[in-house]
Amino acid sequence: MTLPISRTAEQIAPFRVMKILGQAKTLEAEGKDIIHMEIGEPDFPSLACVHRAAMKAAEQGLTHYTPTLGLPSLRKKLAQFYRSFYHAKVAASNIIITPGSSSALQLVLTAILNPSDQVLMADPTYPCNRQFVELLHGKVKAVPVDADTQYQLSLKLLEQHWSKEIKAVMVASPANPTGTLIEQDALHDMAQFLSERDCYLIVDEIYQGLVYDRPAESILAQRDLPDNVIVINSFSKFFGMTGWRLGWTVAPTHLVDVLDRLGQNLYLSAPTPSQYGALAVLEEDALTELEQRRQIFQQRRDRLHSAMQQAGFNLKTLPQGAFYLYWDISQWSRDSEQFCADLLQATGVAITPGTDFGSSQGNHYVRLAYTSERIEEAVERIQAFVRTLHA
Ligand SMILES: Cc1ncc(COP(=O)(O)O)c(C=O)c1O
Repeated sequence: MTLPISRTAEQIAPFRVMKILGQAKTLEAEGKDIIHMEIGEPDFPSLACVHRAAMKAAEQGLTHYTPTLGLPSLRKKLAQFYRSFYHAKVAASNIIITPGSSSALQLVLTAILNPSDQVLMADPTYPCNRQFVELLHGKVKAVPVDADTQYQLSLKLLEQHWSKEIKAVMVASPANPTGTLIEQDALHDMAQFLSERDCYLIVDEIYQGLVYDRPAESILAQRDLPDNVIVINSFSKFFGMTGWRLGWTVAPTHLVDVLDRLGQNLYLSAPTPSQYGALAVLEEDALTELEQRRQIFQQRRDRLHSAMQQAGFNLKTLPQGAFYLYWDISQWSRDSEQFCADLLQATGVAITPGTDFGSSQGNHYVRLAYTSERIEEAVERIQAFVRTLHA
């Protein structure tokens, strides 16, 4: 007899990028040369100052739980960071440190959703958001978006799709999988529209900092921001600390107590050595190094974009941030999973099928992450591969 698992858990979709990663690793172990463009994390290791600070904390015996809301010194330092980096006035008391922004997203959704409440989000979007909502027995309202709105939600789309069952809207700027932004004034209008309808706006700024041709911006820098805005961020991407599992949320004051109680029950506190490491990554010298890495990502974005264009591939947007390019492959395939599997097998280039990010056009798109230096070589291999397919 097989022991049962819950109906909710049974319905959780896999993260398909992990399947591609697994296949790529297997081929690599067999000796095949693989170019990894599937993984959504910087290829650089975390900074040496992070390692030193975390080691020092551990050697000093600072390995116990911290307060659930996070180390007071880290919350304070992040508030200063908002002031100097984003010109935003944020109180340390509104900053809650979490084990990765994944936990921040779950914490926040748990705090605001009742069963059957709807959460509106774009299709394509970061896949785990759909699962978080469904785990809470909420309902996802996915709104297909395309190049016309830079693959982002807009006030017009909110007006079109509005219903009173919607309790929260989730956006990410820059977004995964498209790397596109929402302009700050547009975000403000969306926040205002939703505030008048007692609905939250969750703004995922995890890729802020990794923004190109323009300064990084946080919605928290806006004046007269309504108190329905919840910001999510992380030390994973811009700060290059994915494995340290550290993120945060900036929540309106009325949510801090409930988020504290939820965190106390769900994980007690975020990893302590990681919090000490994060204190170091917010220092001036570290930020200078991170800026150099940002410039490398910008050069890679430009290289990838121009190599794709030279190969004759039609790109509908120029990504403005993060490290992703979302590419329409419908000219060659209407089955992005098969396309990625065949491409990997034939050429060793690992990329992610669009089906991870949405159902509306997911089969027509793939995501390329420029988290590898071997960009031109990858595009040459892709070009040779598509020549073998019927246009
Ligand atoms: C848009 C977005 N939000 C949140 C996360 C979660 O990241 P972490 O838990 O490492 O902070 C990711 C990870 O790829 C992401 O792309």
